[in-house]
Amino acid sequence: MAETLKTRLGSLELKNPILSASGTFGYGKEVESFVDPSVYGGIVGKSISLEPRKGNPLPRTWETASGMLNSIGLQNPGIDAFISDPSYLPRMSAYDTRVVVNLVGDTVDEYVEMARRLDSESAVDALELNISCPNCPLGGMEFGVDPEATRRLVEAVRENFSRTIIAKLTPNVTDVVPIARAAEAGGADALSLVNTYVGMAVEWRQRRPRLGGITGGLSGPAIKPLALRLVWLAAQNCEIPIIGIGGIMNTDDVLEFIVAGASAVQIGTVQFIRPRIALEIIEGLGEALRELGAGSIGELVGTLETDRDAITVRQADEDGGEEVPVGE
Ligand SMILES: Cc1cc2nc3c(=O)[nH]c(=O)nc-3n(C[C@H](O)[C@H](O)[C@H](O)COP(=O)(O)O)c2cc1C
Repeated sequence: MAETLKTRLGSLELKNPILSASGTFGYGKEVESFVDPSVYGGIVGKSISLEPRKGNPLPRTWETASGMLNSIGLQNPGIDAFISDPSYLPRMSAYDTRVVVNLVGDTVDEYVEMARRLDSESAVDALELNISCPNCPLGGMEFGVDPEATRRLVEAVRENFSRTIIAKLTPNVTDVVPIARAAEAGGADALSLVNTYVGMAVEWRQRRPRLGGITGGLSGPAIKPLALRLVWLAAQNCEIPIIGIGGIMNTDDVLEFIVAGASAVQIGTVQFIRPRIALEIIEGLGEALRELGAGSIGELVGTLETDRDAITVRQADEDGGEEVPVGE
């Protein structure tokens, strides 16, 4: 039996489960000299807003012990140029891969306006709604920290876009589950988890932040265990497919996310140091399926076995011995 790497995000079929993460791949043309964007199951462009954005002051990135901080501030050409300039959407549509357009806005109306315009662009297979950017003082984050705002936003975009809608959630909340459920209730076809974790770096001698934007988003290996937990939690509590994101460096990391409940994954920061990593991972996934005797990626999705009773511990006797799951 021939194994297949095909996977599904609702009605959208991907030839393999590896997508490029928004903001780490440009719009494809920036990486062409390293890797053919067509090898990916899908490519997600840098966030697009209604009007062009200049982004945050320099410096915009800082390397940490096990990942990177960025405070790009969503620099992008705006929706008009994105649709008409040959180096953006027209070029993305020429690749043999699924084209996902990541949108960011300050108001529901801005997202709706962009969704309406992209609905008539047949090259666009899916929208990914960035409701989770940590570097947007104008409020990009506000939707993604409130379930009701998330539901209303997704619902409004749903009314104006006929193909796949993915809601990209922030990990910077106390509980991701109500937000994930709200996006699902609003009509999202899939969820992306996670965007970056808010952090900062300082230079103590100068008493200065390392980033021009002061705080930034942490990505890379440091966040993988955190992201894995949120993907697992969302998969336990939602019916729609999940795209796992956060610190993926190799094939094993991808499989961890898949077993925890992701139907596909996005790779981000790793591409800055290993721009051809997608090729290696795609080959590795084929080998892993053969090793497991599995016919498809779908057979592995959410197959993590947990024994909830075994992880229940008794709290200190003085508080009555209430039983709580470890880590909650
Ligand atoms: C330099 C940089 C820029 C990013 N820009 C965006 C963006 O424009 N929109 C967005 O939704 N996510 C953006 N992200 C977040 C990534 O898409 C991804 O969610 C995050 O980096 C976690 O994945 P990773 O650890 O594999 O990098 C950016 C990340 C980095 C490192």
